[in-house]
Amino acid sequence: MSEPLLGRSVSESQSERAEAIFPADSNALGTLFGGRLMQFIDLVGAMAASRHARNYVVTASMDHLDFVTPVRVGELLILKASVNRAFKTSMEVGVRAMVEDVREQKLRHVSSAYLTFVAMDKTGQRVEVPQVIPETEHQRRRFEDALRRREMRAGETLRKKELRAMQTPEFHI
Ligand SMILES: CC(C)(COP(=O)(O)OP(=O)(O)OC[C@H]1O[C@@H](n2cnc3c(N)ncnc32)[C@H](O)[C@@H]1OP(=O)(O)O)[C@@H](O)C(=O)NCCC(=O)NCCS
Repeated sequence: MSEPLLGRSVSESQSERAEAIFPADSNALGTLFGGRLMQFIDLVGAMAASRHARNYVVTASMDHLDFVTPVRVGELLILKASVNRAFKTSMEVGVRAMVEDVREQKLRHVSSAYLTFVAMDKTGQRVEVPQVIPETEHQRRRFEDALRRREMRAGETLRKKELRAMQTPEFHI
């Protein structure tokens, strides 16, 4: 029989990434392209999930994403991710993206998102993940909220299964 998985604290997997924004990342208005921001969010979220699971992870979903303020070329983007809660094989990760004003020493909120990652082994089989041990008041609140969000996502998860069932060889766009 396999050993029961021990829980892991949030701080063990918290991840951060900094990106200097270059013209190649921008849209026609010289601000960060939304798809590129989504990529940065996905990457830092996957780092936290993978550290928590100590395994490979795939993105199952990204919840509603608001672009609160634009990011200009030349600005420094800071992304922070933490695992809010782990379920059986999936984990909810919260990501916050901010711009650091290095002269004023201030942070400006750019975007926030919740993503769900599923842990897999190297053969692509889903694997169970350790539970999250919330330690601070803030972490405990996010832990509780993550369960409510999972319940709200249940309909979406079902819709995805239905979409997959439609992927027969006769399925056309
Ligand atoms: C994500 C994926 C592994 C889920 O597989 P599945 O056969 O639907 O598996 P299940 O329905 O048993 O769900 C497995 C877990 O994922 C969760 N899940 C599945 N779809 C989800 C969704 N849309 N949103 C949130 N969680 C989801 C389930 O709640 C379950 O969590 P649990 O084990 O903690 O209870 C599968 O849909 C997949 O491989 N998708 C493609 C992933 C990918 O390529 N991502 C982009 C590149 S990394």
